[in-house]
Amino acid sequence: MARRKLVYEGKAKILYEGPEPGTLVQYFKDDATAFNAEKKDVIDGKGVLNNRLSEFFMTGLQRIGVPTHFIKRLNMREQLIRQVEIVPLEVIVRNFAAGTMAQRLGLEEGTALPRPIVEFSYKDDSLGDPLVPEEYIIAFGWATQQDLDDIVALALRVNDFMAGVMHGVGIKLVDFKIEVGRVWENDFMRLIVADEISPDSCRLWDIETDRKLDKDVFRRDLGDLNDAYTEVARRLGVLPKSG
Ligand code: C5P
Repeated sequence: MARRKLVYEGKAKILYEGPEPGTLVQYFKDDATAFNAEKKDVIDGKGVLNNRLSEFFMTGLQRIGVPTHFIKRLNMREQLIRQVEIVPLEVIVRNFAAGTMAQRLGLEEGTALPRPIVEFSYKDDSLGDPLVPEEYIIAFGWATQQDLDDIVALALRVNDFMAGVMHGVGIKLVDFKIEVGRVWENDFMRLIVADEISPDSCRLWDIETDRKLDKDVFRRDLGDLNDAYTEVARRLGVLPKSG
């Protein structure tokens, strides 16, 4: 294949120019990073699992009418996506306290929240993606109030879908992060789900045992990350149940 133009290289993915204008190829690497890349490793096969899992979640969302950037999977590690203008926010939805929220508020991890809570971090690695209030987002022009209303509605739809799918296979959706991008269609701007949805960007706990099946396995040295992601993929039927 002819060498493609690299558009962007991130910690876990690479974006190349796509075959048509307005498309990109998203390549999933095996690199795992945590704590703003202070902890790094290469986990053989992680990229393959995340490519399949992100395809599974994005196509499921599209089936229920939630727009995403996903067009089609190209091969084991690559998918064709729509080019978007990324909103510089990490949109986090939490159903149970964990991670930074549990630390900040002194809550025990796993405490059920009164309702799903949506929060925003400003996407900037050099600052460690700081949590920001809506007031900052609007004042600095990263998004408008209308965008934020739309993003919250989108994030809650993703939450309902993901929590339901996960519950069906005995997994609790503790929290997750999405990124959102702008596309223009007939002069109208639309916000769609972009980036990836995978166990790298979710907290997934077994309903019975609270066993962690997500990137906390890597962050906290809890075992083999591939085993955890493979378990998620098998339960969802993305990989054969055995073998
Ligand atoms: O670390 P924290 O508790 O704020 O993370 C909340 C959720 O967002 C977790 O599921 C985590 O994996 C995800 N996240 C992410 N990328 C970041 C920060 C958080 O995917 N840069």
